[in-house]
Amino acid sequence: MYTEQVMDHFQNPRNMGEVENPDGVGEVGNPQCGDVMRITIKVGEGETIEDVKFKTLGCGAAIATSSMVTEMAKGKTLVEAQEISKKAVADALGGLPPQKMHCSNLASDGLKKAIEDYRTKHPEK
Ligand code: FES
Repeated sequence: MYTEQVMDHFQNPRNMGEVENPDGVGEVGNPQCGDVMRITIKVGEGETIEDVKFKTLGCGAAIATSSMVTEMAKGKTLVEAQEISKKAVADALGGLPPQKMHCSNLASDGLKKAIEDYRTKHPEK
């Protein structure tokens, strides 16, 4: 029921772990299943995401979407990264089964929260 891309990111997740001394941290839980994820970001010149990592305690789709979101966000500006929607993540993975679409919320919401956290801590920028 999963595409090759989903299986690939599930079996070989990219950017798993935690950024050292993160500039922003986003934690989200999925009330539908109790899964949680944590995204940490390092922000560099021109408000660009220099590094981003994730930790997910969740299903295969949550791991695959988290992995994909980190790949999509790296090198983007905060404004661009904030616009990564759950649909864009699912599309980049070749689609998710309808009953698994809610899992992709975790990844894009986690990233948005990490960006918000960065903005709260760096109001002058
Ligand atoms: Fe919980 Fe997918 S079932 S995130």
